[in-house]
Amino acid sequence: MKPKEILVFGASGQIGKNLIRKLTKNNYKVVAVTRNIHQKGYVLKTQANPGYLDIIELDMVNEEEIKHLYNNCSICINLIGILYEKNKNQFNKIHSLLPNLLSKLAREKKIDQFIHVSALGIENATDSKYAKSKLEGEISVRKNFENSVILKPSIVYSIDDSFTTNLMTLLSHLPIMPLFFNGETKFAPIHVSDLTEIIFQIISNEIKNETIECIGPEEISFKEIIQKLLKSIDKKIILIPMPLPLAKIQAALFEFLPSFLQGGRKQLTSDQLKLLKYDNLPSKKYRTNFDLGFKAEKKFEKEIDKYSYNWRVGGQYSKDKVSRKNQ
Ligand SMILES: NC(=O)c1ccc[n+]([C@@H]2O[C@H](COP(=O)([O-])OP(=O)(O)OC[C@H]3O[C@@H](n4cnc5c(N)ncnc54)[C@H](OP(=O)(O)O)[C@@H]3O)[C@@H](O)[C@H]2O)c1
Repeated sequence: MKPKEILVFGASGQIGKNLIRKLTKNNYKVVAVTRNIHQKGYVLKTQANPGYLDIIELDMVNEEEIKHLYNNCSICINLIGILYEKNKNQFNKIHSLLPNLLSKLAREKKIDQFIHVSALGIENATDSKYAKSKLEGEISVRKNFENSVILKPSIVYSIDDSFTTNLMTLLSHLPIMPLFFNGETKFAPIHVSDLTEIIFQIISNEIKNETIECIGPEEISFKEIIQKLLKSIDKKIILIPMPLPLAKIQAALFEFLPSFLQGGRKQLTSDQLKLLKYDNLPSKKYRTNFDLGFKAEKKFEKEIDKYSYNWRVGGQYSKDKVSRKNQ
């Protein structure tokens, strides 16, 4: 049987890279789309054996070119997403209009499956632009194409993420860590390999017309996440709850400062602060991966221990390259 060709938008990100490896190892041919092949080509081309991966550079405003890409694929996966707005990259365009277009084309081209990755815990966050735009994207996808699967993951983590790695860099440098909302917000982190296994199962089992909340095996508060990261990088610092008015000022300041002064990405925006108010847990409106028999068993503490050595004393990302005892 001819293996199905899978078109992946947002392929160069954390989930995309890991997904390409999973799919191509299992004999699927992947067409990975990026906006900049010079920047992302080297990351993408090392994810698969020759013959299993085509890389396409595409400016996502060109509808005709996007349409053309659908001609040879039977499955399309949308992983495009942003954490904050910058210039042309606005939440509405990326999280609402783009999924609307991609799912309309999926219907027009009569492909087998359209898999759209949205986010968990956004239903109640009506004051967040990120959450609202993601929800609008879900509504369009559901309306446009019956054979769609919408995935709503909690935090997805791995050595390739910008969550645990970024936090470990901060924790390695800071003497104190502020906790927003007392660090009580809860998450159900899922390891990227568990999420890519779920996507693989959705494709293999030809699941259609589902919305699935994707969670890991544990519920952990933000404070517990920080404590686990600190333990893993073998560092002790003070954690202090930050009053909301001060947190708002901090977020506004980070939003104003250019990203290059913040390690290449905004550390906190006002919209992210709003989102942190809401637990990132299943809404119970949809089935979870566990309900469908797709277990996610990787535990947060055990997994981060596999790569946190980079942030321990002497590690390549640690502030302290040499142990003070040896100085
Ligand atoms: N990681 C998480 O914890 C998490 C949790 C919940 C939901 N999600 C969702 O899951 C999806 C994938 O997440 P991820 O962590 O893999 O994201 P990521 O690492 O930030 O990658 C996002 C991808 O989006 C593409 N992209 C960004 N802006 C774009 C634009 N204006 N036009 C076209 N493409 C654009 C980038 O591709 P190029 O630069 O190559 O073009 C990049 O490959 C996103 O929708 C995200 O919101 C992620």
